Amino acid sequence: MNVLGIETSCDETAAAVVNDKREILSNRVLTQLEDHRPYGGVVPEIAARAHLEHIDRLVAEAMDDAGLEFDDLDAIACTGGPGLIGGVMVGTMTAKSIAFATGKPFLAVNHLEGHALTVRLTDDVAFPYLLLLVSGGHCQVLIVEGVGKYRRIGTTIDDAVGEAFDKTAKMLGLGYPGGPALEKMAKNGDPLRFRLPRPLRGREGCDFSFSGLKTAVRVHLDGFPVPQRTDAVKADLAASFQRAVGETLIDRTKNAIYQFMREYPEGKTLVLAGGVAANTYLRTRLTELTDKAGMQLVAPPLPLCTDNAAMIAWAGLERFRLGQEDPLDFKPRPRWPLDPEAPKRPGAGVKA
Ligand code: KG4
Ligand code: ZN
Repeated sequence: MNVLGIETSCDETAAAVVNDKREILSNRVLTQLEDHRPYGGVVPEIAARAHLEHIDRLVAEAMDDAGLEFDDLDAIACTGGPGLIGGVMVGTMTAKSIAFATGKPFLAVNHLEGHALTVRLTDDVAFPYLLLLVSGGHCQVLIVEGVGKYRRIGTTIDDAVGEAFDKTAKMLGLGYPGGPALEKMAKNGDPLRFRLPRPLRGREGCDFSFSGLKTAVRVHLDGFPVPQRTDAVKADLAASFQRAVGETLIDRTKNAIYQFMREYPEGKTLVLAGGVAANTYLRTRLTELTDKAGMQLVAPPLPLCTDNAAMIAWAGLERFRLGQEDPLDFKPRPRWPLDPEAPKRPGAGVKA
């Protein structure tokens, strides 16, 4: 079974083909980083236009790399949301057109489901597992019981982790995207120099909060007149920030592990997914936690942590082999929670 996947929900235009032997036959990712860099963040209209300009070529290249014709495909999957609506429209229209022209089934995949199921493609992880989904737009902890069966047990009440990395990096003048730049800067820094909060530490439940942490970095930075904001100061702030994020994630995830183990004593895996999962320091810290809990931490290889189309093709394949497909009048969804039943958090913003 071969499935083509298309991803256009943010600032990567991507197309990939995977098969049911868990092989990635092709995986093309075109990042728009340089288009957005002058603005210090993703500009939705620029993103949509860039997707439109490149998607046809990327699909053709992904098919070539895989050595397949459209007729060799069993289904066509694309990100149907959540994400920037202009980009999602470009991807869904492309996928629908191919499906319509070839008469093949079409699947609109939830982008978060793509991140959630990637470890089944890369590591064949069995259900159920606990999932810490940390990206630029999301920070959630979910129990993954099966394809389409996600129970959210914790979420951020303000910023997503990746967003906190990006905003903090911007403050420190590290440019965009902030996560990788901040991690690099932190390598030379002293993580104990600045005292920063560990938001919600010790509280019950597994919700997260990161906006106070970001503000605390701002307050420390403002304590230095501009000429004294040296690379050493920035590196120490970056390292202190990253450590605070790590300890916050550990504290909140520990509660999630207790809940997961109570409900699924047979469950032994914590999956780390989403762009922030590319952070080596956080991976190491979370491994300490899973080691103590007698669990295993599984995170996809770095290029499959950040946005890509192999994860969309794979999630489409998982749904398709369960007999699912979507109608060609599927409407792109800018918002699309993985667990629509999860209670809204008081005071939580749109990311909850
Ligand atoms: O999953 P993703 O590619 O896009 C979303 O769906 O949001 O995640 C992108 C996010 C950005 O906020 C980026 O700064 C963050 O992941 N990120 C990192 C690292 N690499 C990417 N954050 C911390 N450390 C990294 N090494
Ligand atoms: Zn993503």
